Amino acid sequence: MTVLLNGQVIGEGGELRTAAIRLRDGRIAAIADQLEAMPGEEVIDAAGRLVIPGLIDLHIHLREPGFEEKETIATGTRAAARGGYTTVACMPNTSPVTDSPEVVERILASNRESGSGVRLLPIAAITRGLSGDRLTDMAGLKEAGAFAVSDDGVGVQSPRMMKAAMREAARLELPLVAHCEEEDLLIPGACVHTGEFAEKHGLPGIPPEAESIHVGRDILLAEDTGVHYHVCHVSAESSVRLIREAKEWGQRVTAEVSPHHLLLCDTDIPGPDPAFKMNPPLRSKRDRAALLAALKDGTIDFIATDHAPHTAEEKKRPITEAPFGIVGLETAFPLLYTHLVLTGELTLAQLVDKMTRIPADRFGLPWGELKEGAQADIAVIDLEAERTIDPETFYSKGKNTPFAGWKVKGWPMMTLVDGRVIWREDGI
Ligand code: DOR
Ligand code: ZN
Ligand code: ZN
Repeated sequence: MTVLLNGQVIGEGGELRTAAIRLRDGRIAAIADQLEAMPGEEVIDAAGRLVIPGLIDLHIHLREPGFEEKETIATGTRAAARGGYTTVACMPNTSPVTDSPEVVERILASNRESGSGVRLLPIAAITRGLSGDRLTDMAGLKEAGAFAVSDDGVGVQSPRMMKAAMREAARLELPLVAHCEEEDLLIPGACVHTGEFAEKHGLPGIPPEAESIHVGRDILLAEDTGVHYHVCHVSAESSVRLIREAKEWGQRVTAEVSPHHLLLCDTDIPGPDPAFKMNPPLRSKRDRAALLAALKDGTIDFIATDHAPHTAEEKKRPITEAPFGIVGLETAFPLLYTHLVLTGELTLAQLVDKMTRIPADRFGLPWGELKEGAQADIAVIDLEAERTIDPETFYSKGKNTPFAGWKVKGWPMMTLVDGRVIWREDGI
């Protein structure tokens, strides 16, 4: 048994209050203003610290199997634990692709062997080899433990294939998670948003409608299938508009946004630096404002990092050739706390909700809340701790971040899963 004493929890009305939390048999046995430590009980002093449900990230890349030089399940889940995450879902663009039950099983086994303690939910492919032309055996994948299906990394180009995938995912009650990108609208080497920055540097651009045309198409395709359709990393105002309308009509659509799209736009890119290259790209000020408004009003349901590690060598290539993607697990909470909560854009309660309870609720997961009887998945955060982001200190093998050098507050100090400490900052 463990008891966390004197932590600050977020109350019903969003206010902070001091509370003690007793953990027993992997669950939260009691939350009260005060509790007395019992003989033999492990005591964690959380005085002055924020105690919240463990963070949930339903969109990350772990690169295993096949690209272990970029990240492994062991390094990526350790990075997750350090970021305050207790549950993460990994995308299938590995080698081999997660398109067979064997790969799903292998990912789950590797996480168990890593001993990270983080809950890992494998997302399986929609099409074999992410080829876009043949559906995977979704029933077999689900049976093996797949949590959703996605061809993340590429868009499903054929509407006919997408419709078939939606019908099958609906039948099996597997969420369909879409990377929305119409390749017919892309030019070779396209690497940043079609806008001010691309023009200034003479770089080929990725237009916002390459995303929103798929969002609109998929909303139409999903309409009579009953599928849970989820839009990955929304970046464009036009996509927000379509999602908002679909929700108003009562369609079963959900959406996520990444920290970088909330905090940066194309005009913040200092120069043609691959640390700022990700897909979808950083868009205009107006798009960024629309994303923030949509997150506030619930059109965009929650936050997911799209943690996408790559090697330093790959990211040293010219911006037109370097791979898309930035890491996010170890910096998401402090970045968002500092730049959305301390600036008054979101309340602390809203931010936490959009990183815990809401993703769990939308995908029917049993975690994400601090309440008696719930699984004891917990993050302890020091809201006052201030540090400068230094990629060289990351547990992740990926050091590719546009936020290096940013000074931010609100660092995770301890992470527990099932009532067990899976990571704690040295010295606490
Ligand atoms: O930036 C990205 N990186 N976007 C994607 O869709 C794929 C991802 C990756 O796998 O690196
Ligand atoms: Zn993607
Ligand atoms: Zn992704």
